[in-house]
Amino acid sequence: MASIKINSVSKIFDNVAALKDINLEFIDGEFISLLGPSGCGKTTLLRILAGFEEVSDGEVFIGKELVSSKSFHVLPEKRNIGMVFQAYALWPHMSVWENVAFGLKIQKNDKKLIKKKVEEALEVVGLMEYQKRKPSELSGGQKQRVALARCMAMEPSLILFDEPLANLDLNLRESMLEEFKNFHKRLKCTMIYVTHDQGEAMALSDRIAVMGNGTVMQLGTPQEIYHKPVSEEVAKFVGRGMVVDGVVTKNITDQQAEVMILGENFIFRQHKTYLNTGDSVKVSIKSEDLRISSKGIATKVISGIYQGNSWSILLESINDQTTMLKVNSFDAPPKETEVVYIEIKDGWII
Ligand SMILES: Nc1ncnc2c1ncn2[C@@H]1O[C@H](COP(=O)(O)OP(=O)(O)O)[C@@H](O)[C@H]1O
Ligand SMILES: [Mg+2]
Repeated sequence: MASIKINSVSKIFDNVAALKDINLEFIDGEFISLLGPSGCGKTTLLRILAGFEEVSDGEVFIGKELVSSKSFHVLPEKRNIGMVFQAYALWPHMSVWENVAFGLKIQKNDKKLIKKKVEEALEVVGLMEYQKRKPSELSGGQKQRVALARCMAMEPSLILFDEPLANLDLNLRESMLEEFKNFHKRLKCTMIYVTHDQGEAMALSDRIAVMGNGTVMQLGTPQEIYHKPVSEEVAKFVGRGMVVDGVVTKNITDQQAEVMILGENFIFRQHKTYLNTGDSVKVSIKSEDLRISSKGIATKVISGIYQGNSWSILLESINDQTTMLKVNSFDAPPKETEVVYIEIKDGWII
C-alpha cells in the first residue's frame, strides 16, 4: 500500500514540455484516474511514477520514500509497482500459469509459495481452467485478466494502468470495468488508471485528475468534476458540457445566484460569495439540465440525433445566433424551424 506525492514535476522531451509543474497527492488505497485527451501527458506521468522516465524537475514520493528527483532516481524494479498496459505484454511462449508465476520466480520465491500465489491470483480473475493455455489461445479480455493476475501475484503497493481497455470491444469493456472495480476492492492497493474515456474514469475512480496540455486542470471526485468544474476547459471536456455567458442579476446565497442568460433568468449553483449584480459570468450546463418548456429561452431547432434511449437536440438561440444549446429529450425533436422554449434547471457558475 502506498500514498503518492507528486511535487512540482515537469518533464521536457527535446524542447517539448510534456508535463508542466504537476502537483498531486493520492491517498493510500485510492483509485485515481488520469483523464485527458491524447497527447496531454498521461502516459508520461505514469511512466515517471513507474520509474521508466526521469523527471526534468520536481520530486515523486511513493509512501514516504523519495523515488524521483532531478538528481535521484529509483529504478523501476525497485519500486514495487505493477503495470497493466493496452498491449497485454504477456510472454507468448509461456502458459497463463507461467506468465503469472514469472515475476515470483525471478524473485526466487519458494516453489510452494509461488504455487499458492499464482493459484490465488488465477482464482480471483476466474482463469483457473485456462492456466495451461498460451496467450494466443485467449481472447483480449482473458489476456487482460492474465495481466491483472500477474500484477496481483506480485503484491505491489501501487498498480498503474495505461488505457488497458482501449483494445477491447464495447461490451467487453463494460464487463472489464466491473472486474477492475472488484480487483481494487479485493487488493485495496493504490491504483492509477490512465484513460481518455470519461465513462471509464467515472465508473472506476475515487478521484479523477483531469489533464490538459501537460497540466492538471482539476482533481476531484467524479461528481465534483462533472457538477463543479473549475474552468471552462474542464466544463466542456467532462460530459461534453456547454459553457454559456451570463450576467448576475441577484446573489441569492453563497451557494446560489440568479443569472440572466439570453434574456431569461435562471438560478445556478456557485461557490463565489463575492459575486455582484451585473457581474459577467460563465455558466457550465449539461444537456440533461435543459428542458423544452412553454417558457424560457426562445430557440430554433437545428437538428436531432437519435441515440437509442433519447434524442440529442441541437438548438440555436433566436436572439443570439452564436449561442447553441444541446438538449437531451426522450421525445422526438419538434420540426426544424419551429420555435422551442428552453428552461435551465441546473448549472454551475465557473
Ligand atoms: N519519448 C518521447 N520523446 C519525445 N516526446 C515525447 C516522448 N514521449 C511523449 N512525448 C510527447 O509528450 C507529450 C505527451 O505524451 P503522452 O504522455 O504520451 O500523452 P498521452 O498519454 O496523454 O496521450 C506528447 O506531445 C508526446 O508527443
Ligand atoms: Mg498515452
